[in-house]
Parts: sequence; C-alpha cells; structure tokens
Amino acid sequence: MSNSIFDRAQTSARFIQEKIKCDVDVAVVLGSGLGVFAETLEEQTIIPYEEIPDFARSTVEGHSGRLVVGKLPQTSINVAVMQGRFHYYEGYSLEEVTLPIRAFSALGVKKLVLTNASGGVNESFKAGDLMLITDHINLMMVSPLRGRHDQRLGARFPDMSEVYSREYGRIAKEVAAQLQLKLGEGVYMALQGPNYETPAEIRMMRVLGADAVGMSTVPEAIVARQMGMQTLGISLITNAAAGIEDGPINHAEVMEMGQRVSKQFCELLAKTIVKL
Ligand code: HPA
Repeated sequence: MSNSIFDRAQTSARFIQEKIKCDVDVAVVLGSGLGVFAETLEEQTIIPYEEIPDFARSTVEGHSGRLVVGKLPQTSINVAVMQGRFHYYEGYSLEEVTLPIRAFSALGVKKLVLTNASGGVNESFKAGDLMLITDHINLMMVSPLRGRHDQRLGARFPDMSEVYSREYGRIAKEVAAQLQLKLGEGVYMALQGPNYETPAEIRMMRVLGADAVGMSTVPEAIVARQMGMQTLGISLITNAAAGIEDGPINHAEVMEMGQRVSKQFCELLAKTIVKL
C-alpha cells in the first residue's frame, strides 16, 4: 500500500526543508499568468516540482512548475511561492492537488495566500479587476477530504464558516486603499473545468450567489482550513464570464491579463504579506 497522505506530506516537507535551510513564514500559490510575483523574491532557492518527492507536475501553460523560496524585499520574511499549481482537470486526484498545502503545513506554515484567475460572474466586475475572496461555493462537487480519515491531518468534519480569514481580508483591503488600488470582494465558485462555462451555467451561478468562477483554489482552501492555516484569497478577474460580453473566452486572454496587472498584483501581495 502507498504511504498515507500524512507521510507523503512529511516526506515532501523534509526534502524542501533540507534545500532551503530556513523557516517559511508565508506560503503563496500563484494562479494562471500570475507567476511573476515569485521573481520579486530575494536570495531565491528554486526547486522544480519534479524534484520534490510526491509532488505532481505542472502541465498547464502559465504554470511554471517550481517552488521558489526567498525573502520579501527589504524584510526578513521568508516566503515559499508555488509558481504554478495542480488542478483537478489535469487528471490529478484532489489528494495530489492539495499535497503542497499539507507539505506547507508540515513545514510549520500557518499563513497561506491563494491566488487565481477567474471569470467575472458579477457584472459589476471588469476584466483586470482584483477580487478579495470572502467565501466560496464548491461546485466541483467533490471534497479533498473524501476518503479514510487520518486524524493527524485534522478534523473529520472541519468547520467551514470562515475559510478565508476575515482579518487577512481586512488587511488586504487596507493595503489596497493605501495603494489606491481597487480591490472588490465576492464569492468564488469552483468548477472542475477544463472547459469554460456556458452562458446558461453562468446565469445559474449568479442566482446561486457566485461573483467569480474558476477551476482551482477551493480544494486547497478546504485543506488549509482543516489543517488550521489562515488563508487570504485573491482572484484576478481576467474576463467577463460566458455570455456577458460577445466573443469566446480563451486561455491566452487569461494569461495576458495576468501580465497586464502584474505590477499592481505584486505590490498588493508584497505589502499585504508584510502585515499578515
Ligand atoms: N471561467 C472559469 N475559469 C476561468 C475563467 C472563466 O471564465 N477565466 C479564468 N479562469
């Protein structure tokens, strides 16, 4: 039988620890087209995912597939950044998708920042807007906690009433205001993907209370909550969701928007992380 999730996370964490030889204060997962934040770190140690025991591989364009650990400039804060994440639609199990979060927890990380690219369901969002994730709806219809319970991973029935830390959200809002940057807020709905949605599905999502839609983040956020980490979620609205504007949605446009807002995004992230 293969090793337990707990053991696999320990093995990954031990490998990372030996490479970086420092504590990690904050872990960050970067969404599609948002990888540039990793490049702002100083004294970098770069570990390709294929070297880390039990880590999956990134197969999606815009996800480099490496862990970058370094210091936030002009601080002594050590940040571990996933330049690219794993998705359910790539064919990975949700255990594989969320193993890095378990590994961060095994490294002693308590502070997590999850970022993603999403489609704007709420019509008040424009492409290029940043949204604080205040809550989520798991329309992936599958939980990363499904399976035999191991109490070393956390509770069997973890509470989900505050998956995204209100305190972290307040800090991010405050920093955005100082930077004179617009940071909306809303509910992120996750689907399995990889196809984008139909206009009818988007109308349904609006009725259900979604403000943005994407294909990631929720499994990681659920696991982080189970492990007692505090999470900040930031979504970049890369496009109006299907049916709101004319024309198709494509991955190239999603990635291009990441590059367009990268300066504001990096500033918001760096200045917020200092205050977490
Ligand atoms: N739908 C789902 N995921 C996405 C979208 C979208 O419109 N844009 C970026 N990621």
